[in-house]
Amino acid sequence: MRLKSISIENFRNHRHLEFEPGQHITNIFGCNGSGKTTILEAIHYCALTKGFSGNSDKDCLMFGEEMFTIRSSFESDQGSNTRVVVSYASPREKRIMVNDQELPTFSKHIGLIPCVTFTPGELVIITGGPAERRRFMDTAICQYDRKYLSDLMQYRRVLQQRNALLSSFNDHSTTETSMEVLTEQLITHAVEIVMARERFISSFSMMLNEAYRWQPEGTVSEITYQSSLHHGEKQLSKEQMQAIFREKYRAIKKQEMLRRQTGAGPHRDDLQFYLNGREIRKYASQGQQRAFLVAMKMTMHTYLYEKAEEMPISLLDDLFSELDEKVSSNMLESLSSKGQVIITSTEERDGKGITPFSINKYREKTG
Ligand SMILES: Nc1ncnc2c1ncn2[C@@H]1O[C@H](COP(=O)(O)OP(=O)(O)OP(=O)(O)O)[C@@H](O)[C@H]1O
Ligand SMILES: [Mg+2]
Repeated sequence: MRLKSISIENFRNHRHLEFEPGQHITNIFGCNGSGKTTILEAIHYCALTKGFSGNSDKDCLMFGEEMFTIRSSFESDQGSNTRVVVSYASPREKRIMVNDQELPTFSKHIGLIPCVTFTPGELVIITGGPAERRRFMDTAICQYDRKYLSDLMQYRRVLQQRNALLSSFNDHSTTETSMEVLTEQLITHAVEIVMARERFISSFSMMLNEAYRWQPEGTVSEITYQSSLHHGEKQLSKEQMQAIFREKYRAIKKQEMLRRQTGAGPHRDDLQFYLNGREIRKYASQGQQRAFLVAMKMTMHTYLYEKAEEMPISLLDDLFSELDEKVSSNMLESLSSKGQVIITSTEERDGKGITPFSINKYREKTG
């Protein structure tokens, strides 16, 4: 997939901006606050129906304006064109048109324009709490597996009901029966989620070493999935996993009733990241953590490409800060084979085949 052009109106600080990236690496550069991240946000809106920084639609509307519009044109690897128009009018009216047809539900659009992002804020995947790592995993799997999203939603619904029952638990036999029913339902979805996550992490972890080529020779990276319901027994069938989960819930029943909440399950799971056998969060330097995250994003690119059979677009915000020259140029070299890549930085980045886009010069020209 390739972004051919994008036109942005009243979106954050851009009253009007036209941008045509190159085929391969494009470097958007300009001073702090000039609107580099904003361009990536706008592209992300067209690909995945919202921004990547967690800002609401309303936050993205230029101060004092009533409507923003983003018009974009994409070309698939096979050469077919897709026009996406996202508009938002305050207070709540967001519309997305794909090839002049309005989308009734936004979720259908996800996956059509595969996209991989990197933002410095995402370092919390490594340094933050388990919820950040679960979100990374869930967002990744949802981009190619629609059933996963439905299992995740149903799991959350049953979890809520089960927690509500635990908080008002009494000795009635009817409560006991309801509990058993809910636990069984929870296990059904938990098994699907855990299996999908384990499949994802095991191939992702293997691919990661390949993506990590700019590290010194012999560096080994690894990601492991930690389930709160079992201890990494390998190659379990669905039935075996269900039996283990059932046993686990039996074992923690008293504790759950005391604490009045569900004590284990995919909502409590975590990931661990290792570099040469050491946990990254504890031992790696800031730059190494950042480089690891970029490697994860590149791996995501390869992974999504295999799953979607369409080359994802990469949007990499502020990629080079904190990275030394050698790591940065090796990274750029790895990126040169990754299809269309759009990178922001405060200083212009030289390199073979990089298309420059200076916001300052653009503003001088357009006034
Ligand atoms: N709703 C809005 N209306 C107008 N301006 C906004 C709005 N939201 C944010 N801004 C401004 O837009 C400007 C551009 O922000 P952006 O994050 O894109 O800059 P940047 O070029 O990425 O800067 P940096 O180099 O610091 O990362 C900022 O000055 C910000 O205050
Ligand atoms: Mg920025």
